[in-house]
Amino acid sequence: MSEVFDSAAQIPAGFAASCDPQPLPRTLLMCPPTYFDVVDVKNPHMAGHAGTVDFELAERQWHALREAFIACGATVEAIEPLEDCEDMVFCANQTLAGLDAGGQRVCVASQMRHASRRREVPAFAAWFERRGYEVMHLPGEEYFEGSGDAIWHPGRSLIWGGYGYRTDPEVYDAVSDMFGAPVLRLALHSEHFYHLDTSFCAINEETALVYPGAFDEAGIGLIRAVFKDVIECDEAEALRGFACNATAIAGTHVVIHRGNPRTVEALRSRGLKVVEVDTSEFMKSGGSVFCMKMYVF
Ligand code: ARG
Repeated sequence: MSEVFDSAAQIPAGFAASCDPQPLPRTLLMCPPTYFDVVDVKNPHMAGHAGTVDFELAERQWHALREAFIACGATVEAIEPLEDCEDMVFCANQTLAGLDAGGQRVCVASQMRHASRRREVPAFAAWFERRGYEVMHLPGEEYFEGSGDAIWHPGRSLIWGGYGYRTDPEVYDAVSDMFGAPVLRLALHSEHFYHLDTSFCAINEETALVYPGAFDEAGIGLIRAVFKDVIECDEAEALRGFACNATAIAGTHVVIHRGNPRTVEALRSRGLKVVEVDTSEFMKSGGSVFCMKMYVF
């Protein structure tokens, strides 16, 4: 039976701790930027950037990001890039992978809003199927952009579900059913923060990094009710530095775009190990560290 909540008033105190424990993923899937480019405007960050990508620099940045993940203790795997899939490098979006209530691997296939990204989905579904995941499809036609919008609460069988720009709110009943996990739904209210992963980074069971300006009161209230420690990112670092589009590894390490000194300081003051990387070429497409990998359980 699906369980979807929209406000703190709907959940009991200590809600996350009451959800089943889950392992923290240490394996990440990435897609080489062989065909990466900016050719249209799918989000406001892409405006004016068509034809401006420095491909050699993008290649170097992608390899440096891969090395940063490995330095943080992750194992990195790669999927074969497809020609003409210029956004495939953003491999957080095509699926949501995880474990269901019985510990079985499940991969929910996304239903991408933009037609040009739909070819990416079967390639990822096939990759996860080969890994032993059961690939599932949503029952309806609504849009769903995988872990760009649906993010696991670290260490718990609990999903944060963003919606409004790329994902439709209705999908979360089915997503909750497929994983046997409750979903805490967050409405997104600012078009530059079109995916949940641009304004929300779940670092470990207690800690989240968020840009409050992307959410409404119910959303912020829900985040504060569930995480003990909510690090607030300011607008400049969230918007220009993609600071919230960071990736946490093992609850102890964070990889983040370089040039976010206030966020980095806030993370380090909590004892987190921070590795900074340059993702400037990918930010021209509206994505940074979090979007460029997929957690593999
Ligand atoms: N250009 C891509 C798009 O608009 C960027 C996706 C970034 N991914 C993310 N999870 N925020 O679809």
